[in-house]
Amino acid sequence: MATHYTETVLTVRHWTDTLFDFTATRNPGFRFLSGQFTMIGLPVDGRPLLRAYSMCNANHEENLAFFSIKVAAGPLTSRLQKIQPGDTLLVGAKPVGTLIQDNLLPGKTLYLLGTGTGLAPFVSIIKDPDTYDRYDHIVLVHGCREVAELGYGELMVNTLLEDEFFGELAREKLLYYPTVTRETFRNTGRVTTLLETGKLQTDLNLPPLNRDTDRVMLCGSPNMLSDLHAMLRDRGFTEGNHSEPGHFVIEKAFVEK
Ligand code: A2P
Repeated sequence: MATHYTETVLTVRHWTDTLFDFTATRNPGFRFLSGQFTMIGLPVDGRPLLRAYSMCNANHEENLAFFSIKVAAGPLTSRLQKIQPGDTLLVGAKPVGTLIQDNLLPGKTLYLLGTGTGLAPFVSIIKDPDTYDRYDHIVLVHGCREVAELGYGELMVNTLLEDEFFGELAREKLLYYPTVTRETFRNTGRVTTLLETGKLQTDLNLPPLNRDTDRVMLCGSPNMLSDLHAMLRDRGFTEGNHSEPGHFVIEKAFVEK
C-alpha cells in the first residue's frame, strides 16, 4: 500500500491572518475513526513535507477537510497557506490518534474541550452519528483569543444544526459554547476557569462535572492540556488510551514551532 495518497485541493477559506481551512479529494480507500489525525503536506523539492493534521470531515463524507494555522516561518504552513483549488495535497494513508470513542468508558455527557486549531478533531466527532448514539449530550467548547478565530467552528456547527439528516439529533444533543479571552463576546474566559467556577455548566444548564457520568476529550494548547489534565486527575478522572479506556483522553494540537 502507498504511504500517502495524492489528492487535489478543492476549496480554501481564510479566516484570519493565522487561520484557514481547506478541503481536498479523498481516496475511497482512506478510512479513519472520527477524531483521528494523519500526516498531510506538500511535495517540496521532490520530497513530501508532512505534518500531523486531524480530519475535520466525518468518515461518511466524500471529501477531506482540515483546519490549519499559518506560521510565517513554518516549513509546511508557510507554503500550505498559499494552496489554491487544483493544487496537489499529500495525505498519509495511516490515520492514528487517541481521541477515539473506544478509549473512553461509557458515559452520559461528552465534553469536547478545544482551543485554537484544537477544534479540528471535534468537528469530525460532532458529525459522527455514533457520538450521538453513545451520549445524551455532547458539549463542544471552543476557546480562542478573538471572536474572528471562532468563525470556522461556528460555520461547522451551524451547518450541522441545519443538516437535513443530522440536524434534529444535533439540535437535541449538541451544546456549543464558543468563548474568547481577549475581546468582549457573549461568552468569555478560559476553558479552565469556566470549568473550575462551574460557569460553563450553569450557562448550559448541566450538572457539575462528575466522573461517573462525564467523559472529556481535550485538544489544543499544551498549557491548557496540562492544566486540565491536572484538574481532571484531582477530580478522580483517569486518562484513557488504546489498552485501557478511561474518563478522559488528550491530544495536543499540532502546532508548528
Ligand atoms: P489566553 O488569551 O488567556 O492566553 P493560543 O492562541 O495561545 O493557543 O490560545 C488559545 C486560547 O487558549 C486562548 O483563548 C488562550 O487564552 C487559551 N489558553 C492558553 N493557555 C491556557 C491554559 N493554560 N488554560 C486554558 N486556556 C488557555
